[in-house]
Amino acid sequence: MIAINQVSSLRDGVVQYFEASRLIRVVAYLVLFVGSQSIYAAGTTTIIFQPELWPQADQRAVLDPVEEARIDQLIAQMTLEEKVGQMTQVEIKFSKPADLTKYHIGSVLNGGGSWPNNNAMSRPEDWIELADEYYAASTSKKKGRLGIPVIWGTDGVHGHNNVVGATLFPHNIGLGAGNNPELVTAIGRATAIEIAATGIDWNFAPTLAVARDDRWGRTYESYSEDPQIVASLGDALVIGLQGADLSELRDDPATVVATAKHFVGDGGTLAGDDQGDTFTSERTLAERHALGYVTTLNNDVQTVMASYSSWRGYKLHGNEYLLTTILKQRMGFDGFVIGDWNAHEQLDGCSKESCSLAINAGVDMIMVPEDWRGFIRNTLRQVRSGEIAQSRVDDAVRRILRVKLRAGLLDQRSLPRPDVSWIGHPQHRAIARQAARESLVLLKNAADILPLDPNSKVFVTGDGADNLEMQTGGWTVSWQGTDNKPEHYRGSTSILQGIKAEVASHGGEVVFSASGEAPKDADVAIVIFGETPYVEMKGDREHLVFSRFNSRPLRQLAALRKQGIPTVVVFLSGRPMVVSDEIELAEAFIAAWLPGSEGAAIADALFARDGFNFKGTLPFSWPHTEQQKVLNFDDEFYMPKYPLGYGLRTRLKRSH
Ligand code: BGC
Ligand code: BGC
Repeated sequence: MIAINQVSSLRDGVVQYFEASRLIRVVAYLVLFVGSQSIYAAGTTTIIFQPELWPQADQRAVLDPVEEARIDQLIAQMTLEEKVGQMTQVEIKFSKPADLTKYHIGSVLNGGGSWPNNNAMSRPEDWIELADEYYAASTSKKKGRLGIPVIWGTDGVHGHNNVVGATLFPHNIGLGAGNNPELVTAIGRATAIEIAATGIDWNFAPTLAVARDDRWGRTYESYSEDPQIVASLGDALVIGLQGADLSELRDDPATVVATAKHFVGDGGTLAGDDQGDTFTSERTLAERHALGYVTTLNNDVQTVMASYSSWRGYKLHGNEYLLTTILKQRMGFDGFVIGDWNAHEQLDGCSKESCSLAINAGVDMIMVPEDWRGFIRNTLRQVRSGEIAQSRVDDAVRRILRVKLRAGLLDQRSLPRPDVSWIGHPQHRAIARQAARESLVLLKNAADILPLDPNSKVFVTGDGADNLEMQTGGWTVSWQGTDNKPEHYRGSTSILQGIKAEVASHGGEVVFSASGEAPKDADVAIVIFGETPYVEMKGDREHLVFSRFNSRPLRQLAALRKQGIPTVVVFLSGRPMVVSDEIELAEAFIAAWLPGSEGAAIADALFARDGFNFKGTLPFSWPHTEQQKVLNFDDEFYMPKYPLGYGLRTRLKRSH
């Protein structure tokens, strides 16, 4: 479809920005950025935008005339109610299938921790049943209306993670450590199959954030602080989810629509504030934070989610320059922009139920989970009064229909879905296990203690050893990944279980106690600890010093050293943290990130099962001290404890 060239023609765009209500903030920013970007004069802020910094759409890109004619025909027949309905996305907890018929609603989502019948234990058949009900309601031609099929979106950010029994892949930070694009494509493919098997059409992934301040609670959703890694793995996932080209997306029922999110600069906010302000130059925004959009657009990603965050004080959801001038016009994005969860209400003059500003800025489909009735009513009024131009509505609807058409939704819904037996299928678990194994980064291996001999007496300890919550992290069945019950992890294997199986098969012995004492004759202790789960909004931290959140592991490590038992630490976390003292006290230290459902992967590496050696390299710079809150590979003064790309290999002692 659209190919993008890195072009830098010298065409300056000067856009008048008049925003009285934001003046004070803007002035404050101007003081900081004096002279570089903006000129302040007599109540008008003139920001000199530089569209030439952004890649330009390849002029060869063409829309399919047959498809476009079909869309024209549909649009010509649609009432305003049908059009506004297409632009509205509602949540399954706050809507009934019949609402789709009545209000012509174009899309539904299930948010994190939202399941059919509000039941976490819903079976795949329950998901299919609900998807079929929504589909039937959306296509009902009652009253002679058009019946345009619904598109259902979900957050399958590490597998189809809202569904009990699905394969849970490592979170993106671990995939960044593995840095294996072919494997990420396989993960995308497996995820698409599991999503499609439940009747869902669209995945809100990949996250293309380039997290630059690891205090941000979504750092683990970022592949890397290095835009190149983000771009390469983001592409790989899109290819896996959507197929290699648009014909696969249309013809293969085992593909789903992908989402590049969150456009743009979500990972660059000041102090790592979630939904905060990315106060960077346009060049940094374009070259660092947007690189993944350039490449995924090249791979035909069909939807882009706008970010909650701001760029220099201005919220993305109201940012016509970035959403329309840059993303759609300059970069040539011809799919549709989806808003984030109620994000439009954060714009001045907007509420959950009303936001012409976001639509006018270029958001095509608004995620209005709960208050969609009022939203539809207000939007209709705003179009009728001219507050929203009819042409803007038609453009939004055209884009939505284009994606539905390209995804085959307008034609081939009757094709057989992948069988539900694919959910948590052993083949998918094997991919997840490989990905988890490759994500492990060996930071220290004193006296070549690794690989361990499975035919020995192994003491396993730490609250992460037998803890599927910690191992899988947020966005797992529930939204925050907390308050889950053991049955919510059906099919998952804990790290402890994996160690036990490996040691038992070689005649060794495992003694486990999460916090107790080691047997005196233990040959080695494996100490597994780290962060407890969190997601957006709740995961931000003031500092990254691990022992100030949990000092028990330090004491345990000290006690084991006193006993003379060598220790291997497996650290579970959504980001690098300051663990210099813990590293000092351990013989070996492994950054394991959030490895997912296949805990046996850890034993594979610790015991060099089948000759496996560590492969992972740091996707984020690792700090020494508390002061290194913002630490990135391209800093002018770069003195990390371990740099980006660091990762040891062991000297394999023997083969199994
Ligand atoms: C998140 C998105 C997510 C959406 C739907 C938002 O709060 O920022 O990443 O796709 O919710 O659950
Ligand atoms: C999340 C949803 C979640 C909701 C809960 C949103 O911000 O994106 O996935 O279900 O919050 O209130």
